[in-house]
Amino acid sequence: MKIAVGCDHAGFVLKSAVLDFLNGRGIEVVDCGAFTEDKSDDYPDAAFQVARRVSEEEADGGVLLCGTGAGVSIAANKVSGVRAVPCPNAEMARLAKAHNGINVITLGGRVIKPEQVPEILGTWLDTPFEGGRHLQRLNKIAQAEHSTLCVGPLSGAREPVKGRTVIFNHPLVQHKVGIIRDKSISVKQFRELLEEIAGLMVYEVTRSLPLTEIEVETPIAKTKARTLEGKKLAIVPVLRAGLGMVDGILRLVPNAKVGHVGLYRDPETLNPVEYYCKLPQDIEERDIFVLDPMLATGGSASAAISLIKKRGGKKVSLVCLIAAPEGIERVHKDHPDVDIFIAALDSHLNEHGYIVPGLGDAGDRLFGTK
Ligand code: RB5
Repeated sequence: MKIAVGCDHAGFVLKSAVLDFLNGRGIEVVDCGAFTEDKSDDYPDAAFQVARRVSEEEADGGVLLCGTGAGVSIAANKVSGVRAVPCPNAEMARLAKAHNGINVITLGGRVIKPEQVPEILGTWLDTPFEGGRHLQRLNKIAQAEHSTLCVGPLSGAREPVKGRTVIFNHPLVQHKVGIIRDKSISVKQFRELLEEIAGLMVYEVTRSLPLTEIEVETPIAKTKARTLEGKKLAIVPVLRAGLGMVDGILRLVPNAKVGHVGLYRDPETLNPVEYYCKLPQDIEERDIFVLDPMLATGGSASAAISLIKKRGGKKVSLVCLIAAPEGIERVHKDHPDVDIFIAALDSHLNEHGYIVPGLGDAGDRLFGTK
């Protein structure tokens, strides 16, 4: 585990106690300063350094110190994905981690004593984030941020961070989601929009694909360029609504292989049953994106992922248009290693299992079957 630590002059003395505690626990520390007690320094400088490291997953968490813990937390919370809260005692640290999943704890050199540090920091590190309804609330906060955000399980394990829910807040995606929800649009419009939204999501979905260096000869000179490494992508639509997302993605990654998974719900047991599964032969070497526009109860998405894993799939992500918190919770519970990418997080499921407000049955709207 790696923790980034930063302070201003008013937190300088307390920082030594923090470093001693973390070193004593054998935790790797990235000290972002301040390195001298200089009254002219400004707390946002240290706060942004630590927050950036946490946001970009260079550190598993952060500790920030100023006079009260307030200034550094205000600054750190401006960085996307950071949840920083002042914790003047262990109970606050426990609740803020368990319920708010704080990934940065802030302490005040003028309000707590060095001997309180081990109990407060120890509690923060040892308390797990409870997830469930708390994750649903964090996702709502994440949705309010302007850029794409990740809400992870905050377990402390980081290599690689998995089990994230990534919500797309790009204005174009939000605009198109607004139109596709409208029940009065035609089948043609629905089809085009689903394809376009899936295409827009590709940029973020493929952000962490590994690159490798190659040499290219331009008409002017030889140069180094970068290319996707290894066997690249497989996309696997869940029949039938997932089909509506395939072309939008293939337009940008035309060499991706396409598998198909078909599931129906057993009327007796209500469990998803496989009726079709055809995957690329080298599925175990590929980054797999399972496509299903609506993540409602999560039952079929989870079953589709299990099926793909059983056939050798290792690196699986789920890409949906609209999700209900119930579906997200189910998939994360069944598959904690799977990232979920969604364009919108809706409120809940109704008694018929439809997402509210949702957009109705995506399959029927896509194929005009109702
Ligand atoms: C600096 O004197 C002090 O104002 C600052 O460390 C802090 O308490 C901010 O919240």
